Amino acid sequence: MWERIYPRTGFRPFAAEAAPTIRSYSRSHNPLLQPPLLPGAAVLDSVYARRMSQVRNVATPAQSLADKAAAWSDRVAGCLDRALPAPDETPCRLHEAMRYAVLNGGKRVRPLLVYATGECLGIESENLDAPAAAIELIHAFSLVHDDLPAMDNDDLRRGRPTLHRQFDEATAILAADALQPLAFHVIASSAALDDSEKAAIVKIVSEACGSRGMTGGQSIDLASEGQALSANELAEMHYLKTGALIRACVVSASCLAKELSAEKLAALDQFSRDIGLAFQIRDDILDVAGETGVIGKQTGADKKLSKATWPALFGLDEAHRRCDELLESGTGQLSAFGADAEPLNLLAAYIVERES
Ligand code: IPE
Ligand code: IPE
Ligand code: MG
Ligand code: MG
Ligand code: MG
Repeated sequence: MWERIYPRTGFRPFAAEAAPTIRSYSRSHNPLLQPPLLPGAAVLDSVYARRMSQVRNVATPAQSLADKAAAWSDRVAGCLDRALPAPDETPCRLHEAMRYAVLNGGKRVRPLLVYATGECLGIESENLDAPAAAIELIHAFSLVHDDLPAMDNDDLRRGRPTLHRQFDEATAILAADALQPLAFHVIASSAALDDSEKAAIVKIVSEACGSRGMTGGQSIDLASEGQALSANELAEMHYLKTGALIRACVVSASCLAKELSAEKLAALDQFSRDIGLAFQIRDDILDVAGETGVIGKQTGADKKLSKATWPALFGLDEAHRRCDELLESGTGQLSAFGADAEPLNLLAAYIVERES
């Protein structure tokens, strides 16, 4: 397939999927999945923190995780707010648009993954703020471009008009253009990281964002409309367009660890690949089986564009089965970390069971 799409290079961005290792993982009592977290109009919540605060009153054995997630969510919201130019700073319309793209919505799964990885490895939150905020800014820019008429041509995002519908197409393009360098500015200007840490994180995040990562995956996504990809081909596309940024969350936090064996780093890396792929398969499932009022996006959008998705090519049942398998294999990678990995385990379960 890569030969078909990229005839000159035969570009193969990722190795074929690793065979999953099965380990059973209990998903009960996940505070991220308790009913208050998934209300009908969850997408209208201004920030993920608000949902997390709703579960603060629900007694679960893993209650502390909900509190942690709420604190991390608040933390990154503050970092994003401070990083974004004020709406009354010239050019006001552009700055308003940037804030519209980033604030007031979004599950903040990627920052939560950065902080949860950091927690697993004993890294101070101050050191994780820059990668968490930077990756969320890149993610927000990718969504703005993804929704443009030239790409998925969507009108609804996070329960509100997409940026180009709320403002205009040129402003949406420029706002996304500006969010990307802002992400790297956040890393470069971090007071908590030293120069070698900043350089390492810039390298990880730029690779994940570029043509060998998210942007490349988006290019393949567009070229694959109407095509019957194999499971490996589809997985490679998903690893790139969505998995690469999710992997960057785990790997950028890992690179800040004082000591980490090669085996443990490889386990975290494989965990991030598994949940990154599962994240996009779940997104594909929700496009078919979710509700617009809950996911905050128009359902059926993938079918309309004949997108290559897991449910379209292999059916909904197989999509659910593959998500479960990836959850098992991903969380299986974390056994060496013991209880320190519990936030990561719960986030993984949330990723494959989320309703929005
Ligand atoms: C949506 O990502 C785009 C994909 C990569 C599938 P999210 O589901 O994380 O979107 P928000 O940030 O919560 O809106
Ligand atoms: C987009 O995948 C992934 C990105 C890199 C933005 P989708 O096109 O399926 O994401 P949604 O469904 O519009 O959020
Ligand atoms: Mg898309
Ligand atoms: Mg889309
Ligand atoms: Mg989608």
